[in-house]
This record gives sequence, structure tokens and C-alpha cells, in this order.
Amino acid sequence: MKKFRFIDLFSGIGGFHQAMRALGGECVFASEIDQYCNEVYYNNYGISSDINIRDVDPKDIPKHDVLCAGFPCQTFSKAGKQEGLKDQTRGTLFFEIVRLLEHHKTKYIVLENVRNLISHDHGRTWQVIRDCLYDLGYRLTPVPLIVSPHQLGIPQLRERVVILGIYDPQHRDELLDISLDNPKSKDENSIFDILESHRVPDKYYISDYEEMVLNAWDEFYKGIKETVIGFPIWSVYFNEDPVPKDFPKWKQNFVIKNQELYLNNKVFIDKWLKKHKGLKDFAPTHTKMEWQAGDSISSIWDGVIQFRPSGIRIKKPTCFPALVAIVQIPIVGKYKRRITVREAARLQSFPEDFEPCDNLQQAYKQFGNSVNVEVIKYLTKELLLHK
Ligand SMILES: C[S@@+](CC[C@H](N)C(=O)[O-])C[C@H]1O[C@@H](n2cnc3c(N)ncnc32)[C@H](O)[C@@H]1O
Repeated sequence: MKKFRFIDLFSGIGGFHQAMRALGGECVFASEIDQYCNEVYYNNYGISSDINIRDVDPKDIPKHDVLCAGFPCQTFSKAGKQEGLKDQTRGTLFFEIVRLLEHHKTKYIVLENVRNLISHDHGRTWQVIRDCLYDLGYRLTPVPLIVSPHQLGIPQLRERVVILGIYDPQHRDELLDISLDNPKSKDENSIFDILESHRVPDKYYISDYEEMVLNAWDEFYKGIKETVIGFPIWSVYFNEDPVPKDFPKWKQNFVIKNQELYLNNKVFIDKWLKKHKGLKDFAPTHTKMEWQAGDSISSIWDGVIQFRPSGIRIKKPTCFPALVAIVQIPIVGKYKRRITVREAARLQSFPEDFEPCDNLQQAYKQFGNSVNVEVIKYLTKELLLHK
């Protein structure tokens, strides 16, 4: 592929940088306000990214062919009578992108955002972004692309919007035709493909308390008659008490389902509750379980486990959930441990020689915020074929 120059806005730890570099790109500018990210960026790429994009004069940015940005999703102001599209975006970080594009008329743009961008503010946010880019002279794909690493065979379910554009003010009515070829389904993936094969440091293994809680729920799942459970299990409602009338309908419905489950398995559940002292040693969120693995597995220890505020969630071991919140790092049931930082890097397709942040919490957060390198590489490669 021909050499090209790119800029990396909201650069984080350089998910875009990795993808562009792999395609032959040279980074000429990066901007990021988080100090931990800046350190990682410098250590890996030798570039100082410590720049607030709001302080940048577009004239100070070198000429480039591709603008990359994973910008935060913010609400735009409602249009006033005199207000143009651009004015509605003022004050937002998207406006910073507009500012640079106005000056540089960058040939290609690759923007990334959460899936929710499309429905955000009843669709208005996307509409403003699309119309703004159009007004600036960009040709876009007819619909925003929604892509997830699992479609490329990387076992992470992470749906994100990628906006691809090409500067083409003369042919604006022609649309860009770019999509993934033969995307894989979730079930064609396996979490075991990205796991480290050796024993990992002790800090990743679950605690005795967590193991005790999970063993109890494993016993529960194996003991009840049902294998597929389409509602959250709330053990506090394993009783025959009247359903609280002040609960909203959806919640009453779940309570009723839990009471039915209880009555259907009364002998077993009473014994189970007694054995585990009514779960009184469990943290409140651990008295709830969300079985989302259908009947594909028969033990918790065969699944992917997450301790979530809404309860303990079990999924089948095909894909990891999107890396986002650092407290909910997925657990590999089979090995009774959380995924390692290296595994988090692999889920975002960072190369093996990438040096993550030494601070464990920061490292998880940074990979959680980053883009998947392979997804961006795949789509950008397609984009650059368009002239
Ligand atoms: C979703 S993350 C992007 C991560 C990046 N694409 C990657 O692959 O690692 C958004 C980043 O924008 C940064 N950010 C927020 N406001 C900024 C500003 N005014 N100037 C530069 N960066 C900013 C945040 O610190 C955050 O790291």
C-alpha cells in the first residue's frame, strides 16, 4: 500500500495508530489529554501526544491524508433560526474535528464511536454529524457501519459505529460502498483463541470468596430442573410472599417468574438456601444471577463470568463482552481467573510487542476505551482503495 500521513485525535493508546502504521501510515500529529495515555503513547511510538485539541490552531498541524478520531458522543444544541449546522456543534469535541477539516480538507476520515451514537438524542446527533460532514464536502457510506471484532474472528462482542468519509465535493451524491466481507457470527468464535497458555500471575485469579459464591450458584444451576432461564434470578424472591404492588410492571413480572422457579424446585432450593445460610454471607449483588448461556453449557465453570451491579452474569465461552468497565473484567470460568492485560490487548488486536501501562486499572481502562486495531485496519484498507 502507498505511504500516507495521518493524524490521531483523541489518540488514547493509539488503536488507530497501530492500524494506520500497519497499512503504511506515518503519524504526523497526535492529541490526547490523559497523562497515563500520553506516557503509553510516547513509550510505544516515540511521539508526544500531550495536546488538548481545543488549544490547537489547525495551521500548526502538518499536512496529512487521513484524519482518525474516536470522539466522545455529546448532545448538540437545537437549531435556532440563524444557526447553521456547524454552530450547533460548537463547544463539542466533534466541533474540533470540523474545525480541522475546514482548514485541511483532509482526503480521508475514519471516525469511531459507540453504537448508541445512531440513536442518541432521537437520531439527531447522527443527523447533525452526517449533514455537517456532507456540508464539508465528504462522501460517506449510505448508513453508518456498525462493526464488532467478533465479525473478524476476534472473540470480543463490541459493536461500534465507524464513520468513513472521503473528501469529494464534486461527487457528493455518490456513496461509499464499504462493508465487511463474510462477517462471522458470535458462535463461530472461541474465547480460548486469545488466552495465554501458561499460568498467569496470582493477582488474576479469583478470590476464595468469589469461588465460594460461584460454586454455590453452580450447584444451584445444576440442581434446578430448568436449563434455559430467560429472566434474572433474584434469590430474595424465593418465597411465596405477595408480589409488592408498588413495583413497576416489569419488576413484578420478574418477581413472579422467580417465585414460579422457586415453587417448581422447592425441595431443592430450600435445601440449597439452608446449606448456604440463606446467602447471608453474600454481597447483595451476588444474590442475583443472570444465566445468559442458554443450554450451551452445563456448568458456570464452562462459561464467561462477570460480577456486575445487576448480578453475576454467565455467558457462553464464544466471545468476551466488550471491555468497558474496569470492575467488570470478565472471568474465564475454566481457569477461575480474570483476563490478563495481555489478553485485553489481544481482544483489541494490539500486537504482542505493545507495551501497556504498568498500572493494571489504567491498562484495562485504556484498552476498554481504545478501538479494535483489526476492525479499523480492515475498513481503512477498503477506504484507501477509493480515490
Ligand atoms: C474513546 S477514547 C479514544 C481512544 C483511542 N481511539 C484509542 O484507540 O486508544 C477518547 C479519548 O479522548 C480524550 N480526550 C477528551 N477530550 C480531549 C481533548 N480536549 N483533547 C484531546 N483528547 C481528549 C480522552 O482522554 C480519551 O482518552
